[in-house]
Amino acid sequence: MDTDLLFRGYLGKRVHLGVTGSVAAYKAIDLVRGLLDCNVSVSATLTDAAAKFVTPLSFAALGADPVYGAMFADGDDPYAHLGPGRAADVLAVAPCTANSLAKFACGLADDMLSCQVLAHAGPLLLAPAMNPAMWEAPATKENVARLRDRGVELVFPGSGKVACGDVGNGRLAPVAAILGHVCRLLSPQDLSGVRVLLTLGPTREKFDAVRFWSNPSTGRMGACLATAAWLRGAQVHVVAGPCSLQLPDGVARTDVTSAREMHAAVSDLWPDMDIACCTAAVADFRPRPFGETKMKKDVIGEGGLTVAFDSNPDILAGLGASKRRDQRLIGFAAETDDLRANAAAKLERKNLDLIVANPVNAHGSGFGSRTNSVLVLDRTGRREEWPSLDKSEVAWRIWDHLAEI
Ligand code: CTP
Repeated sequence: MDTDLLFRGYLGKRVHLGVTGSVAAYKAIDLVRGLLDCNVSVSATLTDAAAKFVTPLSFAALGADPVYGAMFADGDDPYAHLGPGRAADVLAVAPCTANSLAKFACGLADDMLSCQVLAHAGPLLLAPAMNPAMWEAPATKENVARLRDRGVELVFPGSGKVACGDVGNGRLAPVAAILGHVCRLLSPQDLSGVRVLLTLGPTREKFDAVRFWSNPSTGRMGACLATAAWLRGAQVHVVAGPCSLQLPDGVARTDVTSAREMHAAVSDLWPDMDIACCTAAVADFRPRPFGETKMKKDVIGEGGLTVAFDSNPDILAGLGASKRRDQRLIGFAAETDDLRANAAAKLERKNLDLIVANPVNAHGSGFGSRTNSVLVLDRTGRREEWPSLDKSEVAWRIWDHLAEI
């Protein structure tokens, strides 16, 4: 997933990061960076084996505080083995070796990290990394099953070539994925079990073999909304037009190209959803196609090219027309003029519960921008203007707002 889609409002939250002895230990440094970027406070413990691969100084220099090593080190708090259990909201071990996994499964407490894990009653997340043969070993499988039964969250390793050259499952999951799962454990689960459908990105309407009609939408606002809903426990299904953003691995995704494909996918999914949120910049019109081949310049005379367009379905309006009483619908309005009047008309016409309007021609707002300044109108008549905010923050506030109406 793209880490810049994550909500950054975790001020006051604390994660304790355990690092064990794997070649992937250096990746834990990026995890510290990512957590600090989300305004999470971080402390860390390196096992003796981890300290052979990376140094405590790297973690301290980045801002992890405190950084623990061996038990009974001079000057250490004698209760350091209980510290994270008292202070951390989440304890994450990444990378987690086969040996550490086995220790945690059995409740051993023979070094600083295993004591801290045993004494931590809150959420525990493990990101294993090891040789594929060790990952596939029956003992490891039993340990994994035991930990999962106990409610421990695992971010499973990926497959590929590992350090020794073997190929298989055992590579540490991408740091971005681990970061996403830690942030999910830090987030309120107020959308737990809620089924959310999201459209995002542009659509492309094909003209010939090499040309299409589209718009500059990057899908960022929709991706931030999908990520925020997933962080807060929702089951999220995204129908995405062509865009390059990487969503969290827990988000279901259907990729489409044209408005008619998006319409078909959304119409199938809508009856099983609690909420739909349409952020896609759907092309309202599609050019009458020239054909499957490339249109050559020389078939066009002196007068230039005239293309006829047909109307595309209004996906959001269709959802509004078939909305049940137990479903909620959010729309967006991209406007260059009369923001409030146009948004209010769309709220009414498309039978929405909430509309988020943004001036697409203003600096720091609209297509491709990392920030958005929006006007929010809801069916109860409430109206709010939010200042220019990071889109991840706008997304978080939209879900807050919907919960209030
Ligand atoms: N929308 C949609 N299908 C369309 C057009 C728009 O689902 N064919 C949705 C968008 O995802 C957005 C909302 O409708 O949530 C408003 O889109 P916008 O482009 O602002 O307005 P339009 O309804 O297309 O009207 P206009 O172009 O006249 O402003």
